[in-house]
Amino acid sequence: MKTLQLKNTDELPMLGLGTFKTEPGEMQTAIQKALNLGYRHIDCAPVYGNQPEIGEALSASINAGVVSRDQLWITSKLWNDCHAPEDVQPALEITLADLKLDFLDLFLMHWPVAVTKGLFLPESAEDLIPLDELPLIKTWKAMEKLVGKGLCRHIGVSNFSVKKLESLLATAEIKPEVNQIELHPYLQQAEMFEFCKNNNIFLTAYSPLGSPDRPDRLKDEDEPILLQEPIIIALAEKYSVPPAQILISWLIHKGAAVIPKSTNPERMRSNLDAAKVSLTRDDLQQIKNLDRQRRYYKGQAWTLEGSSYTSANLWDD
Ligand code: A2P
Repeated sequence: MKTLQLKNTDELPMLGLGTFKTEPGEMQTAIQKALNLGYRHIDCAPVYGNQPEIGEALSASINAGVVSRDQLWITSKLWNDCHAPEDVQPALEITLADLKLDFLDLFLMHWPVAVTKGLFLPESAEDLIPLDELPLIKTWKAMEKLVGKGLCRHIGVSNFSVKKLESLLATAEIKPEVNQIELHPYLQQAEMFEFCKNNNIFLTAYSPLGSPDRPDRLKDEDEPILLQEPIIIALAEKYSVPPAQILISWLIHKGAAVIPKSTNPERMRSNLDAAKVSLTRDDLQQIKNLDRQRRYYKGQAWTLEGSSYTSANLWDD
C-alpha cells in the first residue's frame, strides 16, 4: 500500500475506507471485512452516527490479532457544534471512547462552520454562529493542545478553501497537515493542489466516486454521474477494471489520499485493487479534460437565508 509520509515519519496509507452514509449495524461488519481484506486507513466522523460500531469492529479485529493498533491509521473529525475551545477536547474524548482508542492518528475540523452546541444541523440562521464570533483559529488552537496531550498524532482540516488555509497558516503553531476535500475528475481543484504542495499539506479526497448514495435532496436532476462518465468507462474498458478503479487510481496518481466508501466486500476488495492500475500520461490528460468545477456537496445546510454563511464565503470561489 502506497503511503504519504508526514512530518514525524508517520505514514498515511493513501487508500482508506470512507464510512459516511451507512445503515445502523452495517459498518461493524464492513470494518471487520475491510480489515481482513487489508484496509489499514479508516475515515470516521461522529456525525456519521456509526463510531460505536466502528469501535466494536476495531477492538474485535485487534483482539483477534487481525491487525495491531500501530498498523492502523484512524481519522476522525470535530463536529461543527463543538468549535468553542472548551468543547474541543471533550468532543475528541467522546470519539475516542466510541472508537475504543487511546488516540487518533488524525483529527480534522470537519467544516469551517460553527453551529449551536447540541445541534447536528442548523434549522434556522440563528443556529449558525458567525466566524467573527467564533473564529476558526480559536478552534484550531484548542486542537493544537490535543497533540501535546497525546490524544491525536496529527491535526488537519476539511472543506477548507485556500483562503482559509492561508489564514490558519498565518498564526497556527502546528500547521494543518491534511485538508480533506471533495475531489474527483469533475472537481479537480488545481489551485488547491498547488497551494497544498507548496505548504506541505496533504489532500484527502472525499466523494471520489461522486457519492451516488447521497440523499436525493442533495442531487440535481441534471447532474453528471461520475461512474457513468464515458471517458472513465472507456479507460475502465482499456484496463479491464471497474470504472471506480480508474477514479481511485487517478487520485493516487495525483498524490492524494482517497477514501471510497463501500460496505460491500466485493467492491471493497475491488477498490483496494485500484492501487495496481497504472495510468499513462495520455490517460491522465483525458481525465484532466473532464474538470468542470462540479461539487456534489455544496454545503447548503450552512448557507441558510439570513445567516452569515453564503456559498461564496463558504468556498471562497
Ligand atoms: P456500496 O457501499 O454499496 O459499495 P463515495 O465514496 O464517492 O461517497 O461513493 C460511495 C458510493 O459508491 C456508495 O453508494 C457505494 O456503494 C458505491 N461504491 C463503492 N465502491 C464502488 C464500486 N467499486 N463501484 C460502484 N459503486 C461503488
